[in-house]
Amino acid sequence: MKKITKAVFPVAGMGSRFLPATKVSPKEMMPIVDKPLIQYAVEEAVAAGITDMVFITGRNKRSIEDHFDKAYELEAELEMRGKDELLRLVREVTPSNINCIYIRQVEPLGLGHAVLCAKPVVQDEPFAVLLADDLIDDGTPIIKQMTDVFQQNQCSILGVQNVPRENTRQYGIVSSVTLTDNLEQVNGIVEKPNPEDAPTTLAVVGRYILTPRIFHYLEKVQVGAGGEIQLTDGIAALMHEEKMLAYRFTGTRYDCGSKLGYLEAMVAFGLKHPEVREEFSAFLRDLKLPVKSK
Ligand code: G1P
Repeated sequence: MKKITKAVFPVAGMGSRFLPATKVSPKEMMPIVDKPLIQYAVEEAVAAGITDMVFITGRNKRSIEDHFDKAYELEAELEMRGKDELLRLVREVTPSNINCIYIRQVEPLGLGHAVLCAKPVVQDEPFAVLLADDLIDDGTPIIKQMTDVFQQNQCSILGVQNVPRENTRQYGIVSSVTLTDNLEQVNGIVEKPNPEDAPTTLAVVGRYILTPRIFHYLEKVQVGAGGEIQLTDGIAALMHEEKMLAYRFTGTRYDCGSKLGYLEAMVAFGLKHPEVREEFSAFLRDLKLPVKSK
């Protein structure tokens, strides 16, 4: 029985939808209230018992490495001033039992290529992939739910959710046969189809459990949708050789790669944040929304 101990975080993307904010700082470092997106994703992996965090980075991404490093001066300063609570927050960013490993993706050749860059570290183990853009709020972290499904099935698993048909061109879309309330047997997957061509509206969100056989196919994949080496195309090939499941999760997903999703996440998490929730909800209640002209 294999166990998932490694997670891959592709963080080399340009973040062009958030320019100019992402001109020099990574989109994965944008905060939702007071915590950067990448930290939410790492915490999710930690909650699933994952210990090796493999970041696929690129240019302008150094602050991600710094964020998960020890901050000696800051810690010494907080200690000196007796700011114990802040010190605890800073130290908790990197639990002592996790390893952070950084691999540079030299050229932005696509998500499939980014995942392939993790091969020297992942080797022949099954592993998780988390896209920090997709912030998923659920009682039990979704990657924990998926590693539990993996324990029983020992095969690749895609996190999926139904999306409005007009949005299919933003996602990998799967065709499948329903097995249980939340499990599907995948028999097809296509990257970013037009709404009229999409086989279903079941979309892959940024959570995957993959077997190491994916690397064999990613090495062969040709440039696909958007002129990039697509993870979806590697998955489509792997599916013919190995069992592949899709897991319908129940939580709320915020697409923090888009301005609207980011704002929605900020409001939802702000309304839950112990420090500001009361005043923030009063602010929203009293906010004078502009009247929509017809
Ligand atoms: C990527 C994947 C796509 C998946 C999506 C989830 O697309 O290629 O299959 O559905 O993430 O967020 P991107 O959002 O990077 O364009």
